[in-house]
Amino acid sequence: MHITFHENTRIFHLYNDDISYIMTIMRNGHLGQLYFGKHIKDKEDFSYLLETCERPMTSYLYENDRTFSLEHIRQEYPVFGTTDYRQSAVEIRQENGSRISDFTYRSHIITEGKPLLLGLPATYTEAPKEALTLTVTLEDDVTKVRAQLLYTIFAKGGIVARSVRLSNEGPRPVRLCRAMSLCLDLPDRDYVWQQLSGCWARECHIRSRALEPGILSIGSMRGNSSHEHNPFLVLKRPDTTERRGEAIGFSLIYSGNFRIQAEVDAHDTLRVLAGIDPETFEWKLDRSETFQTPEAIMVYTDSGLNHMSQTFHKLYQKRLARGYWRDKARPILNNNWEATYFDFTQDRLIEIASRAKECGVELFVLDDGWFGARSSDRAGLGDWKANKTRLPDGIAGLADRVEDLGLKFGLWFEPEMVNKDSDFYRQHPDWILSTPDRNQSHGRYQHVLDFSRKEVVDAIYEQMSAILRDAKISYIKWDMNRSITECYSSAWPADRQGEIYHRYILGVYDLYERLTREFPKVLFESCASGGGRFDPGMLYYAPQGWISDNSDAVERLKIQYGTSMCYPVSSMGTHVSVTPNHQVFRNTPLHTRANVACFGTFGYELDLNKLTQEENEEVKEQIAFMKKYRKVLQFGTFYRLMSPFEGNETAWMAVSEDQKTALVGWYRVLNCVNGRYTRLRLEGLNPSYYYRNSQSGVCCFGDELMYAGMITSDETAGQLPPDITPYTDFESRIYVLEVTEP
Ligand code: GLA
Repeated sequence: MHITFHENTRIFHLYNDDISYIMTIMRNGHLGQLYFGKHIKDKEDFSYLLETCERPMTSYLYENDRTFSLEHIRQEYPVFGTTDYRQSAVEIRQENGSRISDFTYRSHIITEGKPLLLGLPATYTEAPKEALTLTVTLEDDVTKVRAQLLYTIFAKGGIVARSVRLSNEGPRPVRLCRAMSLCLDLPDRDYVWQQLSGCWARECHIRSRALEPGILSIGSMRGNSSHEHNPFLVLKRPDTTERRGEAIGFSLIYSGNFRIQAEVDAHDTLRVLAGIDPETFEWKLDRSETFQTPEAIMVYTDSGLNHMSQTFHKLYQKRLARGYWRDKARPILNNNWEATYFDFTQDRLIEIASRAKECGVELFVLDDGWFGARSSDRAGLGDWKANKTRLPDGIAGLADRVEDLGLKFGLWFEPEMVNKDSDFYRQHPDWILSTPDRNQSHGRYQHVLDFSRKEVVDAIYEQMSAILRDAKISYIKWDMNRSITECYSSAWPADRQGEIYHRYILGVYDLYERLTREFPKVLFESCASGGGRFDPGMLYYAPQGWISDNSDAVERLKIQYGTSMCYPVSSMGTHVSVTPNHQVFRNTPLHTRANVACFGTFGYELDLNKLTQEENEEVKEQIAFMKKYRKVLQFGTFYRLMSPFEGNETAWMAVSEDQKTALVGWYRVLNCVNGRYTRLRLEGLNPSYYYRNSQSGVCCFGDELMYAGMITSDETAGQLPPDITPYTDFESRIYVLEVTEP
């Protein structure tokens, strides 16, 4: 890994064995983008990559030059209003009303490792040699606003981390109207845009389309990153597949309003911007103040989408997630939500937990409904004290009883919310986000606390930390069940109201930071009505997240497949629930529900007492299986093999680091009679290792399994030969491949 600055040509080259990122200081002092892609050898001069030419209807910067127009130059940090008509990375409104700025090179510094971003989640290094960071300082002469562009290249992988620090060194305040984290100008538009979109219970579906002139964007203006669009984009070449071809993934480490967009101009140049959504953002930068943008990650590969995803998985697993649980196999849990909803007593919970323990579960999680006057979603949020009518021994007493059973205990919170029917709201009616004289819209009868105010975050922290200190709590599910409306904070002046959405998220991060620091062994799972805020920002604090309220095994195929584009299996909350399923009312076999959920953190969202004896035995086997293989399932190298978006079958697999164990998940939605012979070409095995297939007993070398394929054909062909379990609809198999002696 190197960062080289060629003095004569004023060219920066960041490179490692996988990638090169090249830019130059241009004659106007701005930074020009020359190349981002597969590694190329370093040399003094790449300036030929900066293309300019005289074009009609173009505005030029210099009197006697009809070639230098920012409109046609690929840049690193484009500004608004001075010959470039595309959307800019930064826009600053000044006291005289002007929005023009001109950021020119001042200096740069190359440092080992990677700096922390104050108050914001970001990737990190554990040893200085893991990464190099280039900080380029630019300044606008008129406003004296300084922009520091941070670029980190890691020793391994095609990763570049970017963010921007804007500081006001001038005498007057300015307003940031747009402060994107990343701009990448690419020389052509021959890419397919691929996003992860959906809505509640249908998160992270893969949607793709070709790029055409104009702007294509995804984003959120809801206050949370949203079910609708994940802050993630892939640009892949039209012929790129899971196994081969070029792709660039863009991921924003942020949990609030965001925008990721691609603009194709008239000459097919492509500009990608990623950062905080400019529409809902304005930030007053007073003298001597600094604003730090969230971090954006770019991953380049020429080896297909699986490789791109694996790069993200490893980065987010090892250098974004933190703490005690980061590298640990996750406890198998039983959550009571779909088992009881709000209808439970202490005894009932103990009954559920006892049976869970018998089956091998390790952690019992008490979901919503344990606090204040919470007997439905109309009351109680904000009053984080046990409801003694339901839980006579309080949370500490219940936790003790669960621990006595030999289980760990976990608890649900929704810290950012309040019901008007709560003591907390009655004491602090002005602590919700709401605009004076306007309607206060609710979502699920709840209102959003004003986390832009420190005293509000403090008050919630006091309540939560008191319970965590008092009771044996090993896990917290941190929920967030509505988006922000009428965003306004009565604590901030009129000219700072544009900051509230971002300050809110900073408040959320602050609370997470305080709690995770004080209770380092507690496992946090983030949630927002399922995947409404499943993003890299959350992963920094909570190494796993509930990816969807939809627990139907068939629906989950798409959700987990899509989510895996960016996020590791160890981060995906996945549970087995009852049938008929509570979201789509479908009946799927118990083994299929477990076979889907085992590619995740794994747990049960039901009352095991309500299953038959036979089903309980099956559950015991599932749990024993999960305990044996979860390290490989959650932390192995993950490959997508067949897409649920393209057909009736889905397949994926995880391979252990030493390549001695692989688990292949194969799923078929509808049965088909007398169908074709089917086989799966596996990935990531060692060609010379000899593997035994647990399903068929067949032994093969890795090369056979990868190149000839593993047979998955249905032996029944519409009839039922003796000793064969018939395949049905919603069928699935897990094939365990383990190295054996030839
Ligand atoms: C959200 C979560 C669920 C559950 C309920 C409780 O919908 O996603 O898992 O915790 O809230 O109200």
